[in-house]
Amino acid sequence: MRVPAASIVFSEHDIADALSRIESSLRSGQLTLGQHGAAFEEAFAARCGRKHAVAVSSGTSAIEIALRSFAIEGKEVIVPDNTFFATAAAVVHAGGTPVFADASVDSLAVSLEGIRAKFTPNTAGVIVVHIGGIVSPELPAIAAECKARGVFLLCDAAHAHGATLNGLDASTWGSASTYSFYPTKVMTSGEGGMIVTDDEALAAEARVYRDQGKAGFTSNFHTRMGNNWRMSEVHAAIGLVQLARLDEFIAHRRMIAAAYEAGLKREGVLTLPSAQRLDESNFYKFVAYLPEGVDRARLKAAMREREVGLSGEVYELPLHAQPVFEPWAAGSYPGADEVCSRQVCLPVSARMTEDDARYVVESLARCLPVGV
Ligand SMILES: Cc1ncc(COP(=O)(O)O)c(C=O)c1O
Repeated sequence: MRVPAASIVFSEHDIADALSRIESSLRSGQLTLGQHGAAFEEAFAARCGRKHAVAVSSGTSAIEIALRSFAIEGKEVIVPDNTFFATAAAVVHAGGTPVFADASVDSLAVSLEGIRAKFTPNTAGVIVVHIGGIVSPELPAIAAECKARGVFLLCDAAHAHGATLNGLDASTWGSASTYSFYPTKVMTSGEGGMIVTDDEALAAEARVYRDQGKAGFTSNFHTRMGNNWRMSEVHAAIGLVQLARLDEFIAHRRMIAAAYEAGLKREGVLTLPSAQRLDESNFYKFVAYLPEGVDRARLKAAMREREVGLSGEVYELPLHAQPVFEPWAAGSYPGADEVCSRQVCLPVSARMTEDDARYVVESLARCLPVGV
């Protein structure tokens, strides 16, 4: 594949750095909840500008831990209809009821209007997802609405490491924000996740939940229905090395995004979500909208023939259309339906060059007629 949809790169320097940190763990025998995990938490909290960070086993467990810490059992949580399975599944696993809300075509995220339509006296909180690394311009208003109603705002920032809105980190508005370090993300730890918050009591709860609900690391006194949601020292070591590169990774992605923006404008193909901004999005995905009537599957096949991989969408199918969420699927979601059916995600990776980006745009201009 000349331009793969995504690819991870570790420099020789970073491989050596990660290996030496892992070696120190092996020699000390401290393989979980040790010095690398603590250093990763401290550095990640500082990068986000938050007071606390709790490292966990995945982005999925980070969401469930946060929701359990908010004590949602028996309550409703408003979740985006356009998000990954794990966002809404975590609500179910934590004993709550997911209530889907519609998406904004401008930001791909849940809209303020969509959220407002779903509040009930039993609403415990709202989850916003920064889809593709775009932080919705409606987020401050959504946070104000949650505050006025006395409910929590959880930001699932699995896509949004280092993304900003109005120059402020994506984690600024949530009662808590959760991150994923899965290998496809802007930075990775292999597997892993993080919860960040300014709320000390919430961070303390999260630490209890991630370690089998134990009141303390060395005790066997269980006060919460926790799980093994710890991050190992090996994962934390990789995460630390990648975090040091986050600004570089984002700058590279923005360079590719700028080449796409210029090329797409020149060719007059595809439109862009207005909230996807070169100075604020981290370009976990470069999202674009297809003209009406284009067959996405045919377009992707034609692009593959030109050695260009168009990655998975964010998302191909809204949650209300996923069979497993049928019990909670009632209602209509025209925004999410449009976002999901009309988008494509252009390749973005640390390996890509501006030349590659130009080739992708040129290929799109050639292939689009066959997709219609
Ligand atoms: C929006 C969103 N939330 C949560 C997750 C779950 O993260 P993880 O794969 O680290 O469990 C993902 C992962 O892909 C995601 O895209």
